[in-house]
Amino acid sequence: MGGRAMGAGLALSADEVSHGERVRALLRQEIAAAGGWISFERYMDRVLYAPGLGYYSAGARKLGGGGDFTTAPEVSSLFGACVAQQCAEVLIELGSGVILEIGAGTGRLAVDTLTRLESLRCLPERYVILEVSADLRERQRALIAAQLPGLAARVEWLDAPPSRPFDGVILANEVLDALPVARFRWKPTSCEEMGVAAADGGFVWAARPASPAMSSAVAALAAGNGWDEGYVSEYCPRLRPWTRSVIGSLRRGAALWFDYGLPRAQYYLGERQGGTLICHFRQGAYEDPFIRPGLQDITAWVDFTALAEACLAADCELAGFTTQAFFLAGLGIDREMRALAGADENRFARLANQARRLMLPGEMGERFKAMAWTRGMGLGVERELSGFALQDLRHSL
Ligand SMILES: C[S@@+](CC[C@H](N)C(=O)[O-])C[C@H]1O[C@@H](n2cnc3c(N)ncnc32)[C@H](O)[C@@H]1O
Repeated sequence: MGGRAMGAGLALSADEVSHGERVRALLRQEIAAAGGWISFERYMDRVLYAPGLGYYSAGARKLGGGGDFTTAPEVSSLFGACVAQQCAEVLIELGSGVILEIGAGTGRLAVDTLTRLESLRCLPERYVILEVSADLRERQRALIAAQLPGLAARVEWLDAPPSRPFDGVILANEVLDALPVARFRWKPTSCEEMGVAAADGGFVWAARPASPAMSSAVAALAAGNGWDEGYVSEYCPRLRPWTRSVIGSLRRGAALWFDYGLPRAQYYLGERQGGTLICHFRQGAYEDPFIRPGLQDITAWVDFTALAEACLAADCELAGFTTQAFFLAGLGIDREMRALAGADENRFARLANQARRLMLPGEMGERFKAMAWTRGMGLGVERELSGFALQDLRHSL
C-alpha cells in the first residue's frame, strides 16, 4: 500500500463531504446511545462496514492507481499468474475443486488467476467470491464479464461463507488487515481499552479500564517484551472466529493468506510503541483514524502467530509461511514473466519493473507474507507447496 503524501489532492468533493457528514452522524448517534463511549473495534467496524455508509460498503474507488491504495494484484498480473500455479498444484492433488476468493477487490486477482489456470488446463469447477462490498462486487462482475466472457459463467458470489462442504483452495489477499482491531494501553499493573468519544464535532481517543478478557490477552502479549508504561498497540479479537467461519466448509484443500504483517515476537517489540494502525487515502498513509471517517481505509498489520494459532484451532495444518518475494520466486515468477511477455521485449521490461515492486525488500517483498493452511491434503515434508519450498519461516511464529 502507498507511502506518505500530504497537501495537494486531498480536497474533498461535495459528495464526499456530505457522505463524511452522514458517517459522523451515525457514529455520534452510536456513541451517545452507548453512554458516550464505543470501543475502537466498534468504531473501525462502523467506518469500514456500516451498510451503505462504511468505506467498504459505499461506492468510492478505493483500489488501484485512481484510488486510495494499490495491492499486489493491482501492481501486476504476475501475482495472479503465480497464485494460479499454486492453485493448480492443489487442484491437481485433489483431482478437481473450487476456488473461493475472499474480498476480491476489483476482481483483478480472479481474472489473472483464471486466465493462467485456463492456459494450464486446470480450471476450477467454480470460482466463488465472498465479498462484503456491493459496489466492489459490481466492479468484479463487470471486469470478469469484459475480460473473461468465456469463463464468467463459472464465477459466483456469496453473501456468507459457504455452508456446504467443498474441496479446493481459499484465497485472501489483504483482507485480514481490514478486520477491525481492539486498541489497548498497557501499564505494569493495569490495562486500558482505547475507545472513541465524540468531541468538537469530531472524535477523540478515550481510555477505560480494560475488560478481564482484554487484560489477560494483553498480559500474554506483554510477557517478556520490555514494554514501557503507556505502551499502545492493537490486536484482532475476531481473527480466530472469522478465519474459522470462512474455512469451516473446506473439506480437503488449502487456504492461502497474503498480507502485510509480522510474527508476534516482532510485532509487539517494545520499540514498536503505537502499534501498526494506518489509514489510506488517495495513495497517502495517515496515522489519524478520526479524520475522514468512512472515506479513508483503516488497517492494522497481521499478527501471523495469531493466524497460525487460528489455523491449529480450526483443525488445519500449517503448510507454509514465507515472504511474498520467496512465494513468487518459488512459483517461478521469472518463467511467468516470459510467458506473459511472449516476444514483446517492451512488455517484458514493464513486467520486470512490476516484479521488482512485488519482490524487493524495500517494496512489497518482505513486508508482505504468505501463509498456507491445508486440510485433508496429506502433504508431507517431501511434497511441499512450491510457493513455500524456497524459504520456511514457520520457526519464527
Ligand atoms: C484491501 S481490499 C483487497 C482487495 C483484493 N483482495 C486485492 O488484493 O486487490 C479488501 C477487500 O476485502 C473485502 N472485505 C473486507 N472485509 C471482508 C469480509 N469480512 N468478508 C469478505 N470480504 C471482505 C473488501 O470489500 C475488499 O474487497
